[in-house]
Amino acid sequence: MSTQQVRQAEAIPRGQAPLVRVDNFSLDIIRSGDPVAVLTGINLTVHSGEVVGLVGESGSGKSTLAMSMMGLVPKRVSRLRGGSIEIDGFEVTGKSTRDLRGIRGNKVGMIFQEPMTSLDPAFRVGDQIAEVIRRHRGGTRRDARAEAIANLKLVEVADAERRADSYPHELSGGLRQRVCIAMAIACRPDLLIADEPTTALDVTTQAQILDLLRRLRQDMGMAIVLISHDLAVIAEFCDRVMVLYAGQMIEQAPVDPFFDRPRHPYSSALLQSLPENQKPLVELSVLPGAPPQLGMVAPGCRFAVRCAHVVAGRCDVAPIQMYGEDARQYRCIRADELELPGADNE
Ligand SMILES: Nc1ncnc2c1ncn2[C@@H]1O[C@H](COP(=O)(O)OP(=O)(O)OP(=O)(O)O)[C@@H](O)[C@H]1O
Ligand SMILES: [Mg+2]
Repeated sequence: MSTQQVRQAEAIPRGQAPLVRVDNFSLDIIRSGDPVAVLTGINLTVHSGEVVGLVGESGSGKSTLAMSMMGLVPKRVSRLRGGSIEIDGFEVTGKSTRDLRGIRGNKVGMIFQEPMTSLDPAFRVGDQIAEVIRRHRGGTRRDARAEAIANLKLVEVADAERRADSYPHELSGGLRQRVCIAMAIACRPDLLIADEPTTALDVTTQAQILDLLRRLRQDMGMAIVLISHDLAVIAEFCDRVMVLYAGQMIEQAPVDPFFDRPRHPYSSALLQSLPENQKPLVELSVLPGAPPQLGMVAPGCRFAVRCAHVVAGRCDVAPIQMYGEDARQYRCIRADELELPGADNE
């Protein structure tokens, strides 16, 4: 599995324009009237067909970044501080819902962290999928319903015709998630953003949903941004991984080198916290200490107060830049002098 993933990551033609290009993107959330930085200087690219994992502790900004790619962070609670997000050459930032109609659904589909974000409890699930199809493609209600049922079959919902007439509350968590996936892929997007798609599910259902996503990716060739707390899922599913810490990207790398030899002490600490028996569910909160509160970041490295390798006077003075090359980047001034253990090392 792993060698193949590295090959896949290496096979991505670097000269080709990326499908997603997030460039120096910074976003504030307005809290009690004041803007506080939630994302700072985010750079990220996703190429066609690539699967990129986004990890980080709770509150690090993963969902906000995902929502920003869809232009879904409400303008009344946010302020763009700088940078841009392009999807297939289309600038997303600053656009209205109307401008974004051609992107959402068609170019990018999203599975939300909370399934009920995309499902309306008052409507039958088949009608909700059909509505998405009609909004983007037009056509008759009858055709849209037939297509909705075909999509439910595609995501392996048994007895799809009958299930299409169910209301969301009548379905199990696993089935609800399949409906959300059917809705997200109904218009065959180039990119699927999956925000913690399996966190609320039991281990067996989680594995089934991941298998489904893997198959859809193979069949449809779409790129996927997978947000997960679960490093085991990232290792198994992704070509590349990006680590967010307190609103900053602190490391990005192809999956295998990342797990073998992380370059940032935070990444290494996360990998060390993986239990030896590789339990499928790993909460990242086992790391001692807590990330800085929003708007309370220290002048230097944001991880410095929790870092076992911090050097006073070097790490905590000024903001730390990203080091490395395109494929492998890390925000640590000591990366080259440290031999940090990965997932398999003591
Ligand atoms: N609409 C909003 N209003 C107020 N604060 C927000 C809003 N959206 C995000 N935030 C704040 O931005 C920060 C980042 O939140 P976000 O949901 O992106 O984190 P996350 O990494 O997805 O966390 P989790 O793993 O818990 O899902 C949090 O402190 C959150 O409270
Ligand atoms: Mg989230």
